[in-house]
Amino acid sequence: MKQGLFITFEGADGTGKTTQIAKVASWLREQGYEVVCTREPGGTKAAERIRELVLDAELAISHKTETLLYLAARADHITQLIRPALQAGKIVLCDRFSDSTFVYQGSGRGVELQTLKMLDDFATSSLHPDLTILLDGEPEELAIRRNARGVVDRFELEGLAFQKKIREAFLALAASEPTRIHVIDALQSEENILDEILTDLQRLLAK
Ligand code: TYD
Repeated sequence: MKQGLFITFEGADGTGKTTQIAKVASWLREQGYEVVCTREPGGTKAAERIRELVLDAELAISHKTETLLYLAARADHITQLIRPALQAGKIVLCDRFSDSTFVYQGSGRGVELQTLKMLDDFATSSLHPDLTILLDGEPEELAIRRNARGVVDRFELEGLAFQKKIREAFLALAASEPTRIHVIDALQSEENILDEILTDLQRLLAK
């Protein structure tokens, strides 16, 4: 493998992305691949500092500030971690990436999509995922999982209507890029979800 593979995981809060990323990583390592697991916002020292800021629900920040913070974190993440790992031939598994910006800051906050795409291209130097797994589920069901976890961040305070809008935006994005974005039902068993992801991955690895 010359260039590595960049795989991102997207979906609303509580879809089980983190669990699946860990399982996919173990499977890939068993197959002999070098894997880097990371997340957004975050993944590097500077980006993790920005994460603390942007997810702090007590800080009143504007939508523009929020957008630029996510993108600032991404620019550091790409430069310091993702691109070097891909250049070393590794497989990078990332919990959230540009699609989250298009959905949360675009549909969620009303920032114009064209502006977001331009800023995102600047932040990433146009590095796009090879495959994106979208874990999709009914917001009501996902809310039950979230509450069980007991974590509340800026978006988790927004309520069900917001979560529904986010879900629709993710699905619309997936429909517009069906080759890259694969939608998987997040409410089925963890084993079935993993099976579906691994089927997608095996197809990609065989290319
Ligand atoms: P996190 O605690 O990682 O939640 P999750 O388990 O849902 O991934 O919080 C990340 C939050 O940041 C999540 O609510 C989505 C939001 N986000 C954006 O709004 N824009 C972005 O570009 C990214 C990467 C995340």
